Amino acid sequence: MQISGRLELSRRHLLIVGAASLGASAMRPAPSVAADQYAPTGAPMMTRVSFDVNGKTHALELDTRTTLLDALREHLHLTGTKKGCDHGQCGACTVIVDGRRINSCLTLAVMHEGDEITTIEGLGKPDTLHPMQAAFVKHDGYQCGYCTPGQICSAVAVLDEIKAGIPSHVTDDLNAPLRLTNAELRERMSGNICRCGAYSNIAEAISEVAGRSA
Ligand code: FES
Ligand code: FES
Repeated sequence: MQISGRLELSRRHLLIVGAASLGASAMRPAPSVAADQYAPTGAPMMTRVSFDVNGKTHALELDTRTTLLDALREHLHLTGTKKGCDHGQCGACTVIVDGRRINSCLTLAVMHEGDEITTIEGLGKPDTLHPMQAAFVKHDGYQCGYCTPGQICSAVAVLDEIKAGIPSHVTDDLNAPLRLTNAELRERMSGNICRCGAYSNIAEAISEVAGRSA
């Protein structure tokens, strides 16, 4: 009895102390730094940016958070460049910037002031296809076609990388002249996913343009 009485008392005591400390912390004003940090930011911050797309200069006023992909598709209406994952995982948004391929969903438009950007629309036209576009048609390098603009932009840049002697993860000998082996081709195109699985035809198309058999 005495033992259980002592236990009851101590449990009550704990509840009172706990409630008091909770109340005290609820009454305490939040530090002002946290309030500032999470305050609504209000209007988007706009800025001007100018770059060349497919040989034409464009000056845009954009929310600074706009990706290059959204600037191309939503502001310039160049919808050939596709949005797949929007997370840098599929390669559908690949474009060529100053001669190098990049995922346009992973870069902000405002970072490209003065840059020269080539999209699938700038590589060739329906009656004057770029050799890589023609090879994709010839070898059936697509099914639904959603990944195709990114595949073609990537493939064009891959051949330039080989020509420039830029090594990849699978390059064995850094001193030997670089060749587009099957391993090089597959490694360099591994960032471009094709859900239709047209990989063997894509490899044939690229190989033909590179001047070798797949
Ligand atoms: Fe850019 Fe998938 S949309 S990598
Ligand atoms: Fe359909 Fe590649 S052709 S995803």
